[in-house]
Amino acid sequence: METLLLRGDENGIKKAAEILKSGGLCAIPTETVYGLAANSLDPQAVEKIFAAKGRPQDNPLIIHIAETDEIYRYVTDFCQKAKKLTEKFWPGPLTVILPKSKEVPDVVTCGMDSVAVRMPSNPIAHKIIKECKVALAAPSANISGRPSPTSFEHVYEDMNGKIDAIVDGGQCRYGLESTVISFLTDPPRLLRPGAVTPENIEETIGEIVIDDAVKNKLAEGQKVLSPGMKYKHYAPKAHVKIIKGSLEKFCDYVTEYDSKTTIALCFEGEQNTIPLPCVTYGKCGDGNSQAQQLFAALHTIDKQTGIKTVFARCPESTGIGLAVYNRLIRAAGFEVIEL
Ligand code: TXA
Ligand code: MG
Repeated sequence: METLLLRGDENGIKKAAEILKSGGLCAIPTETVYGLAANSLDPQAVEKIFAAKGRPQDNPLIIHIAETDEIYRYVTDFCQKAKKLTEKFWPGPLTVILPKSKEVPDVVTCGMDSVAVRMPSNPIAHKIIKECKVALAAPSANISGRPSPTSFEHVYEDMNGKIDAIVDGGQCRYGLESTVISFLTDPPRLLRPGAVTPENIEETIGEIVIDDAVKNKLAEGQKVLSPGMKYKHYAPKAHVKIIKGSLEKFCDYVTEYDSKTTIALCFEGEQNTIPLPCVTYGKCGDGNSQAQQLFAALHTIDKQTGIKTVFARCPESTGIGLAVYNRLIRAAGFEVIEL
């Protein structure tokens, strides 16, 4: 299949909407990561998303709307807390899980009776959804198990030749997927951390529960509330290990490793101190810059040949740092070395 490469201008937006309305697949930029979109009400189009990504059939999709009122078509109970939270953080990097209406096809929710809904703030995404006049189902536009795409080039690498079009919207503002919170229980439950932090949420709607799977590996047989959390995600080909401890201890620990097959994933400015080749992801103590750069750093690591092991400096897990930690620990298959 030839993949059309579109600009995020008026023509590109029109063409993308045409493709989507006629049942095609189109990758679109959002403020979090690029999404691989299809008409959420067209089961055949949605099925193509799973095929293009190689996505497990039991991992449900987020649907994307352009205006809050549209949500009533897709959910049966837009509860007060969800309303309050979305009033504050929509459009933006927040996804809410609510009971689904009959209109939403089973293929979107993988047979679950709830649906995940988000209203993106990226103007290109917003205009494309608006033009389609229907919610778009869109997971991240990567091959399943690879880091999520935060630039046009990342999407091109994974999806060229497999989908109808890619819209170029430059670099994604946040660089990590949206915060996912479920309102099926009270207090609501945070299933995936993102740029809307637990602190932001609790200031707005009071107490929430942070799901165990956010920071920990699930025990064998433990019930998973968000199917996406059980898969090893974002994993580069090399073996990633997180090292908790000071920069000094990190340097001591890695010094005996072979610099031909080992690299460090560290913070800006640490390259001269660490006795290994380095790839950086943001500034020490600055979660926003770490979020923006983590996936690009994992892509860079993937391109280097001969790398067997990556030692990663550990981010702080407060604020948006919790989201950074959540993604990095999955890239590391939950391997953390405490020094
Ligand atoms: O920022 C984002 O959310 C991006 C952009 C494109 O919008 N999308 C994204 O989609 O990250 P995806 O498919 O990569 O992640 C969706 C997550 C998965 O972990 C999935 O299991 C969970 O949301 N999810 C979707 N529907 C759910 C439901 N009904 N109940 C529980 N979890 C759900
Ligand atoms: Mg994804």
